[in-house]
Amino acid sequence: MSTADRIADLAARHEEAVVLAEKKAADRQHVKGKLTARERIDLLLDPGSFVELDEFVRHRTVEAGIPRPYGDGVVTGHGTVDGRQVCVFSHDFTTLGGSMGEAFGSKVVKIYDFAMSIGCPVIGINDSGGARIQEGVMSIAYYTELGVRNVHSSGVIPQISLIMGPCAGGSVYSPAITDFTVMVQDTSYMFVTGPEVVSAVMGERVTAEQLGGPAVHAEVTGNAHYVGEDERDAISWVQTLLGYLPSNNLDTPPVYHHTGDPGVTEEDLALDAVIPDGEQQVYDMADVITAVLDDGDYLEIHPDFARNIICALGRVEGHSVAVVANQPNHLAGVLDIDASEKAARFIRFCDAFSIPVLTFMDVPGYLPGVQQEHQGIIRRGIKLFYAYAESTVPKITVITRKAYGGGYAVMGSRQIGADRVMAWPTAEIAVMGARSAVPFLHRRELAAAPPEDRAELKDRLTEDYRRRFGNPYEAAAHGYVDMVIQPSRTRVEVAKALASLRNKRHTRPERKHGNIPL
Ligand code: HXC
Repeated sequence: MSTADRIADLAARHEEAVVLAEKKAADRQHVKGKLTARERIDLLLDPGSFVELDEFVRHRTVEAGIPRPYGDGVVTGHGTVDGRQVCVFSHDFTTLGGSMGEAFGSKVVKIYDFAMSIGCPVIGINDSGGARIQEGVMSIAYYTELGVRNVHSSGVIPQISLIMGPCAGGSVYSPAITDFTVMVQDTSYMFVTGPEVVSAVMGERVTAEQLGGPAVHAEVTGNAHYVGEDERDAISWVQTLLGYLPSNNLDTPPVYHHTGDPGVTEEDLALDAVIPDGEQQVYDMADVITAVLDDGDYLEIHPDFARNIICALGRVEGHSVAVVANQPNHLAGVLDIDASEKAARFIRFCDAFSIPVLTFMDVPGYLPGVQQEHQGIIRRGIKLFYAYAESTVPKITVITRKAYGGGYAVMGSRQIGADRVMAWPTAEIAVMGARSAVPFLHRRELAAAPPEDRAELKDRLTEDYRRRFGNPYEAAAHGYVDMVIQPSRTRVEVAKALASLRNKRHTRPERKHGNIPL
């Protein structure tokens, strides 16, 4: 046989084996409503761009007596998404339950090291039974190796986890550290200890779904930044996300051509009527965000968790921007523990990856109550303060209405480090709102008034208070607010401010790292 024939024969046999294995995998995954490891990669990456590494790696734990399939239950390699380089690993649940042993782990670690060396994002597709029981301590060693890679890559390359099946025990360590975690409805779950152990140790009966299903992690724990209605939707969300991000911390996010109107448009004018007449009436901050961002388009992060604060990625004049906004529609946009932690982590991510932060403020303050105090709002709520204060990316703040007390200080005030603060004429920048302040300030006067006059007196005092504090001009007189703008000019002024800050510099003393309250 000639060399050429030999090569062709080997290639044909290899192709046949791959097709057979993929067919078996597809049969087992599709009945569960899941795709195979390779199908997922094909959906994620640009067609034909995937370069597989370590296809022939097999585990060396021969004495365990388990099969030694090529690839060892994980597909690793690199390719492109929208023409930009990414690295990927994808668990193959149909091979040894996608469990991680030494060979599997070494493949994942290798692709991570490669991603770090070329400075590109890593997308990990998780669908695994966890640590490979037959490989004992080696499995644990590789979970630790991977977790350490995740930590060292944090703030250097974007890291994204897709959870597309079981993710339990040691498997949760890596997604817990990565920047974004995306789950899939009905087919994914995450927990440290499963229902059987919970039942045996705690006597609590719970299903996997109730313990760590997508709804739990999207709404209650905040572990999931998005839940796809199916695997395609989850992957599509990740592709969109990548479009807003730079490849690494030394790079800048991609800039898209934008042909927006530089003047005030009909849509902009609608903002002049957004703030309702009554101070207790709510409105949807999404309307404001939509009006300001290019094409009214943005990707919400954590849409179902701590809905009192909105975190989103969008663009202004084609440049990526991170939006952090109080949502008056939910709990009056108050800051609580969940909102603080959600926004703090988002701001820290955007700061690490050079994405400017655009804040829309309408905040009545921090949420009072025994529950919040006992759950640690002092220690946990301050994370948002820390995140804003330590960030060095351009920061622009638009105050739409309430800017009360501690909430005002934290949500991108001038003093916490905003480069530009704009206020609408409807802004109320004060220690507290009139309804709280008047009974407190005028307790004696109100008590001394005849009961029949008290309501009228209170109304008058409230009106006086509003005239004095319920506006942005006191803050503007101190230079805490740089400009008072018509709401309809917000898009235009934000674009100008961001353009002026594109070359922002910052200097701070070198240090090993700060010590954010955890
Ligand atoms: C070896 C495993 C495995 C594992 C699954 N398999 N998990 N093999 N080690 N951890 C194998 C099964 O034996 C089976 O092989 C095949 O994968 C498919 O598994 P099934 O159980 O048939 O699938 P399913 O019914 O869908 O159940 C999925 C599952 C279950 C719930 C994930 O497989 C399971 O409970 N696995 C064990 C989970 C676990 O305890 N992991 C260790 C966590 S401790 P065959 O040959 O029958 O097809 C941990 C600590 C690490 O991770 C600490 C690191 C710091």
